Amino acid sequence: MKAFKRYLLTAALPYANGPVHIGHLAGCYLPADIYARYLRAQKKDVKFVCGSDEHGVPITIRAMKEGITPQQVVDKYHAIIKDSFEQMGISFDIYSRTSNPIHHKTAADFFTKLYNDGLFEEKETEQFYDEAKNTFLADRYIIGTCPVCGNENAYGDQCENCGSSLSPEMLINPRSALSDAIPVKKKTTHWYFPLQDYEAFLKQWILVDHKDWKNNVYGQCKSWLDKGLQPRAMTRDSNWGVKVPLPAAAGKVLYVWFDAPIGYISATKELTENWADYWCREDTKLVHFIGKDNIVFHCIIFPAMLKAHGNFVLPDNVPANEFLNIEGDKVSTSRNWAVWVDEYLKDFPGQQDILRYVLCANAPETKDNDFTWKDFQDRNNSELVAIFGNFVNRTFVLMHKLCMGKVPPLHEALLDATDKKMLGEFDLCKNKFENLLGQYKFRDALFEVIDLARKGNKYMQDKEPWIVARQAGEDGLPNAEAQKLIDNTLHICLQLTANLAVFINPFLPFTAQKMLHMMKVVDKMLDWENAGKTKLLSVGYSLRAPELLFRKIEDAEISLQVEKLNQNKIQKNMDTEKSTAKENADPETGKGKAEIVYDDFAKLDLRVATIVSAEKVEKADKLLKLEVDLGFEKRIVVSGIALHFKPEDIVGKQVVLVANLAPRKMRGIESNGMILMAEDKEGKLYFVSPGEKIDEGSAVT
Ligand code: 2FM
Ligand code: ZN
Repeated sequence: MKAFKRYLLTAALPYANGPVHIGHLAGCYLPADIYARYLRAQKKDVKFVCGSDEHGVPITIRAMKEGITPQQVVDKYHAIIKDSFEQMGISFDIYSRTSNPIHHKTAADFFTKLYNDGLFEEKETEQFYDEAKNTFLADRYIIGTCPVCGNENAYGDQCENCGSSLSPEMLINPRSALSDAIPVKKKTTHWYFPLQDYEAFLKQWILVDHKDWKNNVYGQCKSWLDKGLQPRAMTRDSNWGVKVPLPAAAGKVLYVWFDAPIGYISATKELTENWADYWCREDTKLVHFIGKDNIVFHCIIFPAMLKAHGNFVLPDNVPANEFLNIEGDKVSTSRNWAVWVDEYLKDFPGQQDILRYVLCANAPETKDNDFTWKDFQDRNNSELVAIFGNFVNRTFVLMHKLCMGKVPPLHEALLDATDKKMLGEFDLCKNKFENLLGQYKFRDALFEVIDLARKGNKYMQDKEPWIVARQAGEDGLPNAEAQKLIDNTLHICLQLTANLAVFINPFLPFTAQKMLHMMKVVDKMLDWENAGKTKLLSVGYSLRAPELLFRKIEDAEISLQVEKLNQNKIQKNMDTEKSTAKENADPETGKGKAEIVYDDFAKLDLRVATIVSAEKVEKADKLLKLEVDLGFEKRIVVSGIALHFKPEDIVGKQVVLVANLAPRKMRGIESNGMILMAEDKEGKLYFVSPGEKIDEGSAVT
């Protein structure tokens, strides 16, 4: 095994186009943090770097959606993301951002070096252009009908409905997401990196030399390499990003996947003037923590770039995780199907370690995994509270009751096989832990720690010191022999508690700190050299009263979260419908939408209906449940107008209903149609009604 002098850990730079969700944490930030904490406890020389990825299409799209500038987008989300990481205890040595000048310079210099070495191929190609907006369109900016499933809003790179990977040329009726104009092809020049020239090197380096990489990572690399590599454009037509450092490249920036990984280098530069020790010396172990969607960039493209540049170390490992689903469904930020970290922190103040625990215990290390709130509650209540917390609490309570609040002596001559077995478990746990973390198996290592606490509970139960204490002497206190047995049990349980603090520290650092406080010891006790030792707490040392390490999570807290998740999704659906209507309007005048033919209109079955009853939907601020009379039938319609109208004021009103809209469930209520509303500039809503009262069911044509 290679001996490393330094460790450089990177975690994928999150796009600063939204807050981070728990899938992000489970995917790479938490495992990276556990590993960093573990190495620091071993007194290794570690640098753990990350920052916000502030360039690229995701940022400009978000800016467009929110009607603000890209700079405003990244400023807003960089602050939110940084704060979430800090609060969750993700212990980066630096959390930087790619809009920093040091990054622009580092990325531009990197490009210039490759350019001066004659590496890039300059190529003119035809790309889609929006003549209304005078701009080239990235694939994501082109929308059209998916040739596979018919979804009319597929993107030029992917259809989010059927998951097909697409190119803009494949879309039927392509249109620009910026203006709705039909894009035209226009010539443009870009600089291509000859990835194919690195194929032989990558095959040797990954497929032969790195058979130790995780199966999911190795498999994805192999399939890319088997397909054969192609030249890849490393520049884009855009004004947002690192400017291409060439005189003839106005309006062009570096491709975001060229600049983002260089962000790891710039962040290290910002952190330490000795950055080159970490990046340019063979005895540095570089590990990239990422999610599976980033594998090709970190295992193939970035290493090829580093190799082409020369003088850089390559990653020793890229332990990518798969995805974490939520309540059985894929995380979708566009559908707001996610648990946002900033919201969790508000809803569960001071409970960071529960989330860290559940996300690690459920980490998608080898396959996609599911997060459910029920599992969150169960793992907390039956593992953290009932096993780990319970053991530490019992130990402290009994030590105060039976040993005067001090670490009792160990009477070696009286140790029996059960005691010796328990003491032996400390070191066994340490060995298993080291072996597992060496293979990035964080879940299994965590289970070993919980298992050790479980063994502690069993040991305590077998020994029953509270029963032994009843063997009273003449003074009513336990007789001397009994007291020695009690001392031994509690001595062992206390040393085990100290070990549990060392072992749990990388995973649950807030809990480890609480344990240090109870044991009245300093941080140094958490050093890894203490793991497995049986004499961490000195005999006679008095300890504090126990405090509960974990609290139970109640059913009501869980139902609230599940509700919130469903509510978010409904809200998002309604917002999206509204904003799509707005986005379809002419961007210059705000008037009218793109032209349609009569047949498009004729598909709608619009009918006059009368609202016969209206009530608020429980726990949904914005929804009213309406019963409407169509003459030929009555129907239930759920409408997002509760903030604008009181139920009692709208009964009897005549409205226009889209009667043939497919039914949709909202808050468990099936809605059968949609009521047309007019919205003024201030966002005030008005019913669209016939001028005078007419028969229900009359068609609006
Ligand atoms: O997928 C993402 O969220 C990217 N922003 C990750 C970039 S990782 C690195 F290359 F910076
Ligand atoms: Zn599709």
